Amino acid sequence: MLSFLLFILGSLITFVISQDCTPYSSSYDFSSGYPNIWEKPTSDNFNTDEFQQVYNSIDWSQVPDIQPHTVVNGDIDQSNYPDDDPDCWWTYNQCSSPNAPGVQPDVTICPEPETWGLTYDDGPNCAHNTFYDFLKENDQNATMFFIGSNVANWPKEAKRALTDGHHICCHTWSHQYMTSLTNEEVVGELYYALKAIKTVIGVTPLCWRPPYGDVDDRVRAIAQQLNLPMTVLWNLDTNDWDMEPDGSETSDQIDSNFQSFVDMGTDGTFANSGCIVLEHELNNGTMSKAMEWYPKIVNAYQYVVPIATCMNVTQPYAESDYSYPSFTDYTGTN
Ligand SMILES: *[C@@H]1O[C@H](CO)[C@@H](O)[C@H](O)[C@H]1NC(C)=O
Ligand SMILES: *[C@@H]1O[C@H](CO)[C@@H](O)[C@H](O)[C@H]1NC(C)=O
Ligand SMILES: *[C@@H]1O[C@H](CO)[C@@H](O)[C@H](O)[C@H]1NC(C)=O
Ligand SMILES: [Zn+2]
Repeated sequence: MLSFLLFILGSLITFVISQDCTPYSSSYDFSSGYPNIWEKPTSDNFNTDEFQQVYNSIDWSQVPDIQPHTVVNGDIDQSNYPDDDPDCWWTYNQCSSPNAPGVQPDVTICPEPETWGLTYDDGPNCAHNTFYDFLKENDQNATMFFIGSNVANWPKEAKRALTDGHHICCHTWSHQYMTSLTNEEVVGELYYALKAIKTVIGVTPLCWRPPYGDVDDRVRAIAQQLNLPMTVLWNLDTNDWDMEPDGSETSDQIDSNFQSFVDMGTDGTFANSGCIVLEHELNNGTMSKAMEWYPKIVNAYQYVVPIATCMNVTQPYAESDYSYPSFTDYTGTN
């Protein structure tokens, strides 16, 4: 009898979990007008009036002429790149102050002291309801960097982020090394991700984060002209993206990263300005870690806020009818 009950329970759990991530049909059609899901845009996309109009809206004289890097065995190739970092390539030496004139610096920290900038990449995740419920119970909003392909696959989960009050930024269409792409591909990765977010969620983000932090002055200049003036990096990386079983670091190693960042909340490291921390809603493991460490983070830091809030961006989307609390409003300080 007991084993039968356990069997039923097991099946039920498997059902609930798999149901979470079972593809479902929606009223949105991504079969045309977009690149293939999880693939780079191609000439099929470039040879459309829609794309040409976007591409030609860019003043290319303002975009530095930098050759794309190559990807070797899944890694961006840094050999032969000059030591003096002419392109302000973040991957090379974490440069965030562009050399190209008129290009905005990246946001890498929350300027407010003792403040943790809360960010989660790679969503929306098909099984994020437990995690989003947790944030909601804690009256905690965060900046979510959404991948266009995930928005296309999981529109209900994408919409929930806005309803819950999270700050949504763009994390490209298919998560490539952006400095390895041609100009057309860079435009496509950003444009189609923004189009998917607008179509499904109804807003147009003004901020984005390059996958792997891989950005240089060419890519920044293009993003800025596509009305993404805020490129958001980070100054603390939990390495949760590299956790076993998919990655190479043990759960203990990730815990020790979180612990050292928590310690920085009380040891004076952030007495003058705060941090932006890289975390992910990539899978159950990263979301579980996020929930496990959240209470300790809140205890150690004075403020835990989304990036719009720590930057006082009260209009985070191109649509003017949507407002966001400033730092003072969110934290109730004055
Ligand atoms: C988070 O966003 C929701 C929805 O907009 C809002 O009601 C809530 O007050 C926000 N939380 C904080 C702490 O501002
Ligand atoms: C999710 O991760 C937690 C913590 O590691 C674990 O206890 C739980 O069994 C996992 N759930 C699933 C569905 O894998
Ligand atoms: C946000 O606004 C507060 C209150 O006016 C101010 O003290 C703080 O310096 C501002 N922060 C930024 C990054 O603009
Ligand atoms: Zn990512």
